[in-house]
Amino acid sequence: MEQLYEKARESAEFIRSRLAGQPKIAVVLGSGLGNLTADFTDTQEIPYAEIPHFPLSSVAGHKGALLAGKLHGREVLALEGRFHFYEGYTMKEVCYPFYVLKLLGVEQVVLTNAAGGVNRSFEPGTLMLINDYINMMGTNPLIGPNDERFGPRFPDMTEVFDPGLRALAGQVADELGIEYKEGVYLGFMGPCYETAAEIRAFATLGADAVGMSTVPDAMACNYLGMKVLAVSCITNMATGIQTVKHSHERVLQIANEAGERMCRWLGEVIARM
Ligand code: 6GU
Repeated sequence: MEQLYEKARESAEFIRSRLAGQPKIAVVLGSGLGNLTADFTDTQEIPYAEIPHFPLSSVAGHKGALLAGKLHGREVLALEGRFHFYEGYTMKEVCYPFYVLKLLGVEQVVLTNAAGGVNRSFEPGTLMLINDYINMMGTNPLIGPNDERFGPRFPDMTEVFDPGLRALAGQVADELGIEYKEGVYLGFMGPCYETAAEIRAFATLGADAVGMSTVPDAMACNYLGMKVLAVSCITNMATGIQTVKHSHERVLQIANEAGERMCRWLGEVIARM
């Protein structure tokens, strides 16, 4: 995307002109996980279509709007609907909202997704705190000329998922009695699900869950110097592990059920971030 900085600044200025507050926390809500915003008060919604230079989202189960509001007294910006590489967006477009969030002054980003279980000790409905990722998407958003105003040419990847936020999430889960696992998220390009052979390979590589988002988002946030907390909702087991075929409807159904637990958890985490 040419003149990314200038475009992101125009987007950010537009959003700022529409917002009453100055949120420093943003959340991205994955498929079927939109319920967190039901607890928002003092909401202001800005459709992506109204924001200059913003891409538009198109998948069933995904909305396309920025929702600002208060959650347990904290100002939060929610991205209702994300852009996936498999939809045909470029990686820069997929990550465009994060460049804008950075210029808006956001410092911490919570990413959620629906994912397939690769680790056999997980089952559908499991909430997994992501502690690292494997990028199998074949490309990434940082390729191309680098603008040092955003971040460094060669970003360090030691702590993509902030250890402090992970510790806080663990503590809150224990206090609330919410069960969770920790693991590695592998990003797959999609839109087809993986083959059984791919899943065997990914299990050998160290993946615990697989999905089609979050990796570019986390990479961009890390590059931009924003702290990331990410949680996967395991909606189904990956190909070859589960005995039935994948269905997006079932993914949404399990995500809605587990989403209630996830929202209770992340709501309290955000209150203490
Ligand atoms: Cl099994 N794979 C991928 N790539 N994404 C998913 C999934 C599986 N289940 C939910 N989302």
